[in-house]
Amino acid sequence: MSNFAVLSADDVVSRFRGLRSRQPVQYWAFYSSQLGGVVADPSLMVVPFDDHMVHRGHGIFDTAGLVDGKIYDLEAHLDRFLLSAERSKLRLPGSREEMRDIIVKTTAVSGRRDGSIRYWLSSGPGSLDLTPAAGAEPGFFVMVFAGLSYPERWYTDGLRVMTTTYPIKAPLYAITKATNYLPNVLMQMEAKQAGFDNGVFIDSDGNVGESSNMNVAFVTRTGVLVHPKFDHILAGCTSLRLLELAQSLRQGVINGIEVRDIPVAEARASREMLLLGSSIKVAPVIQWDAQPIGDGKPGPVSKALLRLLEEDMRSGDRLIAVPY
Ligand SMILES: Cc1ncc(COP(=O)(O)O)c(C=O)c1O
Repeated sequence: MSNFAVLSADDVVSRFRGLRSRQPVQYWAFYSSQLGGVVADPSLMVVPFDDHMVHRGHGIFDTAGLVDGKIYDLEAHLDRFLLSAERSKLRLPGSREEMRDIIVKTTAVSGRRDGSIRYWLSSGPGSLDLTPAAGAEPGFFVMVFAGLSYPERWYTDGLRVMTTTYPIKAPLYAITKATNYLPNVLMQMEAKQAGFDNGVFIDSDGNVGESSNMNVAFVTRTGVLVHPKFDHILAGCTSLRLLELAQSLRQGVINGIEVRDIPVAEARASREMLLLGSSIKVAPVIQWDAQPIGDGKPGPVSKALLRLLEEDMRSGDRLIAVPY
């Protein structure tokens, strides 16, 4: 904060470059509808400050995985993106097909075969007001980046989670993937500060909600895979897909699949607890607050679900080949 100067456009670019060289990032390509094109230099991946997504949180996003040159389950992520746009009263900059095409083309420009693709819809620049400025054009942005990575020990040894002290989002906001992640951020920071790996939201009726950027599921004492209802948490594309794929585990690994309210007391007594999401995939939880889950070791259902998901991501029928 010690620097203060009046800057030219060239100064701005060079200072953004300086920022990126002090803090390198793994962002491979960025499309902006405001630029009408793609940039590969992270110092140029910028959004106008007065875009309402920046200063009012009036924007939505979604993330799909890129595995071995193929985009996984993009249609499910686009379904959710469009639902979030509608709930947020955001105008679309083009058709679903046009947005899909830009996502695929930006990925091709990145040249990367593995990583994540995140895309945003903003209500656009033009004022510092609350409602979008007159004539504001919605912004569409696509970022191809390295993706979030988690420690290997989460999969081999399992994670430890804590009940957050932060209130769960009201259902309308929880089911909408808007850029306002303040409760999720605070929950994760709180958990890390307390020596845990992540937090869990509990709803006002005492039922399990979700984690920071992942869903939570359980295997009951009787071997039933249970997942919270999607009316007060984000409908995770990973969860929805796994609930289908898990049908193949009915012979021998699980005794049923249920989507319903899960009271905390029942959840704590479960045999297995799982975290599910596009970035974490499937990871076992071995401790919740002070209590172990099951026998305190990763269980067989978490391993079986991870195998099913990885297989689906590599060779299932929900892949789009990127035309590099
Ligand atoms: C709050 C929240 N819940 C759950 C999920 C899991 O969703 P998905 O499986 O689509 O990644 C995410 C990630 O997008 C999330 O941000």
